[in-house]
Amino acid sequence: MKLLDKEKAILDGSMGEGMQKALDNLVQLGKAFDAEKLVDITYCHYPAEMAIYRGDVDSLEDLSKYNLKTIVPTTTSTICYDLDDPAITGIPEELANEQRRVYPLHMKMGIDPTYTCTPYLLGYIPAPGSYITSVESSAIIWFNSVLGAKTNRGGIFTKFSALTGKTPYMGYLKDENRKGTHLFNIDLKPENLKSEMDWSLLGFHIGKIVGSEVPVLVLPDSMRRNIRQEWLISLGAALATSGSVTLYHIAGITPEAPSVNGAFQNTKPKDEFTVSINDINDAKHANNTAKSNEIDFVLLGCPHYSYNQLCNVAKLLEGKKIKDGVRFWICTMRGIKMQARWTGVLDIIEKSGAKLVCDTCAVESHMRESTCRHFGLKIPNVTRMITDSTKQARYVKDLIGCEVVLSNIDDCINAAIAGKVDNF
Ligand code: F3S
Repeated sequence: MKLLDKEKAILDGSMGEGMQKALDNLVQLGKAFDAEKLVDITYCHYPAEMAIYRGDVDSLEDLSKYNLKTIVPTTTSTICYDLDDPAITGIPEELANEQRRVYPLHMKMGIDPTYTCTPYLLGYIPAPGSYITSVESSAIIWFNSVLGAKTNRGGIFTKFSALTGKTPYMGYLKDENRKGTHLFNIDLKPENLKSEMDWSLLGFHIGKIVGSEVPVLVLPDSMRRNIRQEWLISLGAALATSGSVTLYHIAGITPEAPSVNGAFQNTKPKDEFTVSINDINDAKHANNTAKSNEIDFVLLGCPHYSYNQLCNVAKLLEGKKIKDGVRFWICTMRGIKMQARWTGVLDIIEKSGAKLVCDTCAVESHMRESTCRHFGLKIPNVTRMITDSTKQARYVKDLIGCEVVLSNIDDCINAAIAGKVDNF
């Protein structure tokens, strides 16, 4: 690997042991993937250390002992509780105390404690074409596809990138790896794709087919002109759930796809598919595992909700009451919650009995089976959940072990009020 003199000096210890180790990790990663050089990054979305993973918080403490500070703007992914209001999720106190240790350490290292999977909703918008590093598959796919910034799935190595401002030049940082591979003609009507759930089903279907490759979607004109930010967030999250899609293109919408040919960099697709309403229905069916229509948990906000989405929920909840015994979490981040407080949206949501939960979500919380087992909590922690997110439905099944109903937001709200799902 070709290194700059400055990089070689860091490896020789010119900036201390911490920097030496951090850069060495990135060099080893680059060598393993035949990267020719390191490049500078402009932003990092960092994996907040989760107390539900044993040793994760200790590893942060070890890293912080080097007294290093991040040298690019750095946000953090989710933790396992609501930082300002731990009791809102019912997290065991011992676990909350462990998780609490990360906040001062993140502050000391110059990391913005955003604790969210949608940091771009807080204004972290890397420029198109810029190199960044990121964790959280739904954020990675957003940065690559919608913003046109360039990142790989950074994993644990993002920590070292945040501290050194460097990443190996490989994978999705290289233009030739960003070309489309599979063409998807979306043969659907606008009424088939009019909610976050519908778009997440589309993503789930396509992700299952392409695995880790780069799909190019061709939408009917009427749909292309009316596409919403929240729908693209849901689409990307689901593509990265059923597959490990890191980048997609929508011809005429995403920055690297001014046309179908442009998205494929003037090469031929490996394969071509038409998506019909049957595919969407099949994806919905595959993610419903409930054996009865009674529910005790409702989850909205996967990925974390925007202010706009909270306004919509408040409209649907105004004047209504959540049934006793039903837990209703709407997941977002503290910055958006503050905005909701200023405008009275939070008040409407709280009066209904629903909870605006920040910094986490069900599958990132203590409700995971493994964590419940450790703390002697009921397993599964809830019996039957309803959500409008295919990503959440999928992971809840695997990690919390409860039954799941996947349905649209109206059904989720109605189920929260009645304690059961009508359209079952
Ligand atoms: Fe975010 Fe949790 Fe979904 S981290 S993307 S709300 S699974």
